[in-house]
Amino acid sequence: MASHEGKPIRVALLGCGTVGTEVVRLLTDQAADLTARVGAPVEVTGIAVRRPNKHRDVPAELLTTDAAALVASDDVDVVVEVIGGIEPARTLLLAALRAGKSVVTANKALLAEHSAELFEASDASGADLYFEAAVAGAIPLLRPLRESLAGDRITRVMGIVNGTTNFILSGMDSTGAGYAETLEEATRLGYAEADPTADVDGFDAASKAAILASLAFHSRVTAADVHREGIASVSAADIAAAKALGRTVKLLAICERVPVGGAENQTTVGGAEDQATVGGNGGRTSADGATEGISVRVHPAMIPTSHPLASVHGAFNAVFVEADAAGEMMFYGQGAGGAPTASAVLGDLVAVARNRVHQGRGPRESAYAALPVRPMGQTPTRYHISLDVADRAGVLSQVAAVFAEHDVSIAAVRQEGRVDDASLVIVTHAATDAALRSTVDKIGGLPVVREVVSVMRVEGEET
Ligand code: NDP
Ligand code: HSE
Repeated sequence: MASHEGKPIRVALLGCGTVGTEVVRLLTDQAADLTARVGAPVEVTGIAVRRPNKHRDVPAELLTTDAAALVASDDVDVVVEVIGGIEPARTLLLAALRAGKSVVTANKALLAEHSAELFEASDASGADLYFEAAVAGAIPLLRPLRESLAGDRITRVMGIVNGTTNFILSGMDSTGAGYAETLEEATRLGYAEADPTADVDGFDAASKAAILASLAFHSRVTAADVHREGIASVSAADIAAAKALGRTVKLLAICERVPVGGAENQTTVGGAEDQATVGGNGGRTSADGATEGISVRVHPAMIPTSHPLASVHGAFNAVFVEADAAGEMMFYGQGAGGAPTASAVLGDLVAVARNRVHQGRGPRESAYAALPVRPMGQTPTRYHISLDVADRAGVLSQVAAVFAEHDVSIAAVRQEGRVDDASLVIVTHAATDAALRSTVDKIGGLPVVREVVSVMRVEGEET
């Protein structure tokens, strides 16, 4: 890589929407400070968009619709990608890296599917690949995982990583606002993805969970490895049921080290979807033959209102990281929106620009551990089950018998009688997804059960 001492760092910006507009603003407003911090001026040499006529605040001579030509231009040292989606972003970034141009991207969907080939291209040319903005907006989280905690053994990463769904759930919980109107507001505020189903169906959080797990556990985890449930099925009744029990509903991303394939895990399920994915070196082996693996999942869960994540409202994100030596850490801040995300992009841009000026290089991919991902069917979690049942003698014992039959242990039961039926709420101890599914299927078929009103995981409490 040629030395850039004193010469400007020339930036191609791909995309100028919610995030890109703020990147341009920060680069302009802070030009003098950035020059001092980098050791060279940082100049935008071109901005690729789809509809140039829409971008009246940007100098017209910088705009182009030919992103590929901009990336290939000799006048570009760094490519900042804030288009989103897989193509053309993937092709453009591979071209940039192969040509030795550093890349900064906020594109979690791309990284969660194609990080291996992007890292390979980055390694081949020695160009940097930075992506702090891809997870949790403004919050410095990936740099701590990639660098600050590189000497520790991370055991768990858990948190709220999608601002849009947290905004929706917070609204439903606090003001009883409707799902559709809150989603519309999140879109207006620039939190939602171009296709908001990526947020509400959990794809965005699953991409982020894949990135977090890859970095935390030094393994390649893709979005396809992540168990994913969105918030579309979370009803006002679920939220009310949670409230009645001193809980609230959050969409959580959970990545943790777990045993895989031991005696305990082999008794529960079979079938292709229950086999551990991501073959690897197997990690550590315990006395019962289980090796170390990881569980990576995204789903709504009830958490106690006393839990620190319960007070994370609106588009804010918060992530707990647990590591052997460091103990527990919590990262909190704005998880979405143009300016917060642009802050993370600029942080990366300064880092890669400094690397170019001083001929250094950022961290490479670290995937040596190659830990297998444990199937969700073998992952024990606690559940909250709400049933409408006939209000007569013997109902509770029939329901309890089905739990016992499937070896699902009940932690708490609450029953409220109504005129001719009753509401029965059961909270379980930790049970596997597979055992719980069979239990609920059988309970739903009992003549005394009128309706299975809701089934939701419970997190943040002792098992
Ligand atoms: P927007 O939809 O607001 O902006 C996308 C931009 O990309 C637009 O300027 C659009 O051009 C341009 N674009 C789309 N297709 C092409 C193409 N083929 N060639 C050139 N330009 C193109 O997205 P955001 O700014 O919200 O998000 C950008 C990225 O940042 C995504 O990866 C997203 O996941 C990520 N991100 C977003 C956050 C947020 O809060 N919004 C937070 C963290 C990450 P035009 O304007 O002309 O249509
Ligand atoms: N749509 C994403 C969210 C943007 O709502 O969290 C930030 O990654």
